[in-house]
Amino acid sequence: MVAKMQTTIQRTYQIVVAATRDFGIAKDGKLPWKLPSDLNFFKEITTSTSSDHTDKMNAVIMGRKTWDSIPLQYRPLPNRLNVVLTRSTTFNIPTFENVITCSSIPSALELLAISPYSMSIDKVFVIGGGQILREVMNGSGCEAIHMTEIDENIDCDTFIPPVDTKVFCPWYSSLPVTENGVRYRFVSYVRCNCNLDSEKLKVEDFSFLPKMIFDKRSEISSGCCLK
Ligand SMILES: NC(=O)c1ccc[n+]([C@@H]2O[C@H](COP(=O)([O-])OP(=O)(O)OC[C@H]3O[C@@H](n4cnc5c(N)ncnc54)[C@H](OP(=O)(O)O)[C@@H]3O)[C@@H](O)[C@H]2O)c1
Repeated sequence: MVAKMQTTIQRTYQIVVAATRDFGIAKDGKLPWKLPSDLNFFKEITTSTSSDHTDKMNAVIMGRKTWDSIPLQYRPLPNRLNVVLTRSTTFNIPTFENVITCSSIPSALELLAISPYSMSIDKVFVIGGGQILREVMNGSGCEAIHMTEIDENIDCDTFIPPVDTKVFCPWYSSLPVTENGVRYRFVSYVRCNCNLDSEKLKVEDFSFLPKMIFDKRSEISSGCCLK
């Protein structure tokens, strides 16, 4: 008897995260900074769908501790499918509309690749926290990393790996912003495998990016392989 190979498709994803110079993202289960413009950026990038997909919503995948860290009145994050990762079989999120739980990252990405989510979900964002990002950062399914780069060393106890600049190139970097005494900028990196694909990549190949980022491509990448 010939065993049938089961092929599973997973959704690709983009990461959205704010990190300090040494890649700290949290302290004592909270964000150790108050950056309203960053929260607005997060809301806009994770909520906006492509203009031809206005009937769809995006998905945000997060670890259970990140879910717990969102104040009750703000969760689930509205107008997005909230996918909460937990290994616990007893963890019970009250039945909210637009909230599902998954027991692993691959199972979440597989679920989002099949009906009904393959039809109803536009983009998939992984939004933290540390445990989840340590697994998916720079992963093969990661198309882009939108990082709020905080130009300070703020005391943190949760860290993520740095962006692998052999695989990801900067697409856009904002001018620095200072809020509540903290200087930061918004930087978006795209997977471009500089060494391998440099002859093939075109700007149009990155139309999967949120429009607010795609339209902002700047001269910063001129030294990179993007044409
Ligand atoms: N700076 C930023 O941009 C940013 C973004 C998001 C979050 N944060 C911060 O990050 C902190 C939370 O990060 P964290 O590292 O402590 O926790 P986390 O990654 O948010 O969540 C960890 C939990 O997720 C579940 N989990 C982890 N890996 C899993 C896997 N492979 N499959 C299934 N479930 C998995 C487990 O839940 P169970 O224990 O239920 O099994 C685990 O305890 C919070 O303070 C939050 O404010 C910062």
